[in-house]
Amino acid sequence: MTKDKSRQQSNESHRVATSGDIEVSTYLEIAKELGGEQPSPPKEAISGAEREAIIVIDFGSQYSLLIARRIRECQVYCEMVSYDTPWEKIAPLNPKGFILSGGPASVYERDAPLAPAYIYERNLPVLGICYGMQVITHQLGGQVTPATKHEYGHAILHVSDIDSPLLADLPTSSPVWMSHGDQIKEMPAGFTALAYTEGSPFAIMGNNKNIFGLQFHPEVAHTPEGKTILKNFAYRICGCQGNWTIGNFIKDSLARIKEQVGRDKVISALSGGVDSAVVTTLIHQAIGNQLTCIFVNNGLLRREEAERTLNVFRLNLGMNIIHVDASERFLQRLKGVVDPETKRKAIGEEFIKVFEEEADKIGKVEFLAQGTLYPDVIESASSGSRASAKIKTHHNVGGLPAKMTLNLLEPLRYLFKDEVRQVGLELGLPEEMVWRQPFPGPGLAIRIIGEVTKEKLEMLRSADWIVMNEIKKAKLYRQLWQSFAILTDVKSVGVMGDYRTYGYLVAVRAVTSEDAMTADWARLPYDLLARISNRIVNEVPGINRVVYDITSKPPSTIEWE
Ligand code: XMP
Repeated sequence: MTKDKSRQQSNESHRVATSGDIEVSTYLEIAKELGGEQPSPPKEAISGAEREAIIVIDFGSQYSLLIARRIRECQVYCEMVSYDTPWEKIAPLNPKGFILSGGPASVYERDAPLAPAYIYERNLPVLGICYGMQVITHQLGGQVTPATKHEYGHAILHVSDIDSPLLADLPTSSPVWMSHGDQIKEMPAGFTALAYTEGSPFAIMGNNKNIFGLQFHPEVAHTPEGKTILKNFAYRICGCQGNWTIGNFIKDSLARIKEQVGRDKVISALSGGVDSAVVTTLIHQAIGNQLTCIFVNNGLLRREEAERTLNVFRLNLGMNIIHVDASERFLQRLKGVVDPETKRKAIGEEFIKVFEEEADKIGKVEFLAQGTLYPDVIESASSGSRASAKIKTHHNVGGLPAKMTLNLLEPLRYLFKDEVRQVGLELGLPEEMVWRQPFPGPGLAIRIIGEVTKEKLEMLRSADWIVMNEIKKAKLYRQLWQSFAILTDVKSVGVMGDYRTYGYLVAVRAVTSEDAMTADWARLPYDLLARISNRIVNEVPGINRVVYDITSKPPSTIEWE
């Protein structure tokens, strides 16, 4: 494998965890015996006395998960399942309706994924989106053909049936976002067109059995009225009450954790990242000191990071924390290592060793807490069964140190990142922690080009501290996906006073991103960049030049190593 390829693969593997903060658990090895196993239907994930859910039947669209997210934003619980999921797995969720997602296939292809029979047999409302609409058309006797003109991008939707409850509160004309190669030539019997665009005479169709189809994507931001349509579907068509609230989630989770854990012991790896912070706080509220947190300081953290984390969890929340200062040990292990992948591997292995050693001292432990989130679970389930062309190789779901035989406690596994943040705030975690930018597991080691030494770590910490503080002062911290400094191995000549200097080059990186898969360099104001640069060269000995990274991802990556 080439170096590039190996980096790419390694990035694929951690990327799943980067839907938000990078957790220490990224390092924990996948336990083979747990690999790929999905939990039983998560009926317990739904809050409130009146269980209700809308199920997204996934045909592999890149937007499928976004549909689930939009529905949850309407305070209706929603889960996404593969199109071949049997009814028995869905029934416990008490579905009130189905949404058939888009997807890359064409219905007339051989082996094209189709909706299971129960979608039409249960007499529940169905909303097909793009490919989902074509599936409905095909299965109910209509006709789908390749569009004479592919429709990608904006179109104007004109409502023709203003009385349809699906279209309540919608303006008569509004922009929608199209992305389809096939289209409906003939609707199935009993359907009427409810709206049209210039290129699609049946942009919305429906029948009197509450089966609907949309040719466009209501879930994307480019369809501004899309959420109204989804909300209408959930409330007016499916009759949902909207009981999915963070308060309900917390109440249910506390009861469930207590029941699941009983009197047993739980350990968690605390990293300071949002997910591990929230999961740990939630579990602590449920079972108090039956939880022990292990906080491994690998010496590769940002300035004051360890102290801040310990303050919040040990002092403010009174948690039982084992703090291991393993800085020297990690530094020794990294001696002479320059290759980025070797660094990652060394740090990962060392972490597992330290974690296992500490866990051994606690005595009998039954559970390992993990901050696994819903997108991670979906990625994990998807590699085999999703219709999507995009398959990822690896993830941190189900991760356990290989020697440990622990049960996983993952109370956040049905939450999206923004929901996790809300839970954190409601549990009383400081805003600063809840809104922390992602930080990679290998920490500053992959932001020092070349060998990691104590001196270089100190230099980088100082420069990074300045970047972070200036970005925060400019009130840009939350808008940026990440902002940080990189210590390169380049030295250049400079002049300070009457002296010639020969110092290191620091790069500043600030990016905007939705999910770290793609990123754009942030257009930071010049005066902010000037302040950062001035402060770094004046305040950090050994650095005499600062550059700003103006490459997007792709072709670059967010981190430099
Ligand atoms: P790249 O550099 O691949 O980074 O564009 C994408 C996101 O992943 C984070 N990252 C890592 N996280 N272990 C982690 O836990 C790693 O080895 C690692 N490498 C990169 C990076 O900070 C960004 O958010």
